[in-house]
Amino acid sequence: MKILVTGGAGFIGSCFIRHMLTKHNDYKIINLDALTYAGNIENLDDIKDNKNYTFIHGNICDKKLVRDIVAETDCIINFAAESHVDRSITGPEIFIETNVAGTLNLLQAAKELGIQRFLQVSTDEVYGSLGKDGYFYETTPLAPNSPYSASKASADLLVRAYFETYKLPVLNTRCSNNYGPYQYPEKLIPFFISKLLKNEKVPVYGDGLNVRDWLFVYDHCSAIDTVLHKGKEGEIYNIGGHNEKTNLEITKLILNAMGKDESSIQYVKDRLGHDRRYAICNDKIQSELGWSPSLTFEEGIKLTIDWYLNNQDWMQHIEDKKAGLV
Ligand SMILES: NC(=O)c1ccc[n+]([C@@H]2O[C@H](COP(=O)([O-])OP(=O)(O)OC[C@H]3O[C@@H](n4cnc5c(N)ncnc54)[C@H](O)[C@@H]3O)[C@@H](O)[C@H]2O)c1
Repeated sequence: MKILVTGGAGFIGSCFIRHMLTKHNDYKIINLDALTYAGNIENLDDIKDNKNYTFIHGNICDKKLVRDIVAETDCIINFAAESHVDRSITGPEIFIETNVAGTLNLLQAAKELGIQRFLQVSTDEVYGSLGKDGYFYETTPLAPNSPYSASKASADLLVRAYFETYKLPVLNTRCSNNYGPYQYPEKLIPFFISKLLKNEKVPVYGDGLNVRDWLFVYDHCSAIDTVLHKGKEGEIYNIGGHNEKTNLEITKLILNAMGKDESSIQYVKDRLGHDRRYAICNDKIQSELGWSPSLTFEEGIKLTIDWYLNNQDWMQHIEDKKAGLV
């Protein structure tokens, strides 16, 4: 099986490629990544010489390049995206270009050239925000609130349309917040760790009581592998670990692990349109496909914090790149 993974130099895509090369040693993986500010090819240094792995530096919006690659491919897993909500609030255009037009370009190539499976990696954010109770189900209406989640919801709708109209064999996964090694340090957990390592305060939005449902990145990747092999064409699968935590709880956990106290917290003005609560019901993937998370939140968060503390060179290298020093 030859699989095109887009956005494989990012946080989740790189974890997925490592997972697939380890678990399926007869699969060939092509990683197509534009290496935006969030892409880091060094995330895959350990497997770069694997004979089943090929890296192509390019953009999912590039029609000719995508067609050339898809012509040689059995399946596509689309991770490539602009993924940071705050950036989408200040500059939404690139989110539409990559997340919507880029997905359309992949779908069109898949339709024209034929493909066994097209898996779109999406997010629980497409469902909008929950009140105090309840869960997001696969049937929950889409109600995105940020330009990021609107662009992901738009891509999901295109994926659905290619199934309904052209019978393209698509699958759509919607996962909750991921955490784990190699996450770009603009996202909450690595961002806060990097601030604390510099003895700076961590900025907590609003009252800190926004709730996110956290899943360890390895478990997200094993879920995508499961959906790719066992999922039913045209279906959506929610992925989550039932780990609802407020941002303040996560912050206190990190402070504690790093020997700091709450004086290191700085409350800042809330994010515009900040969704209050996300919580995923993952009954469908558990009961129909037999997937469940392998790690508890306590195990995963310990592994994660330890990884960042033991890989400060990785974080420093990103800071140096940002500052134009390398
Ligand atoms: N991080 C989360 O908590 C989370 C949760 C659910 C779903 N998702 C989804 O998973 C996917 C991966 O998220 P992530 O956190 O790894 O993101 P990331 O920002 O770490 O990585 C995105 C990758 O896509 C690449 N990319 C961006 N634009 C591209 C383009 N035009 N062409 C080719 N490559 C391009 C980047 O270089 C980068 O390597 C995204 O689609 C995101 O919406 C993320």
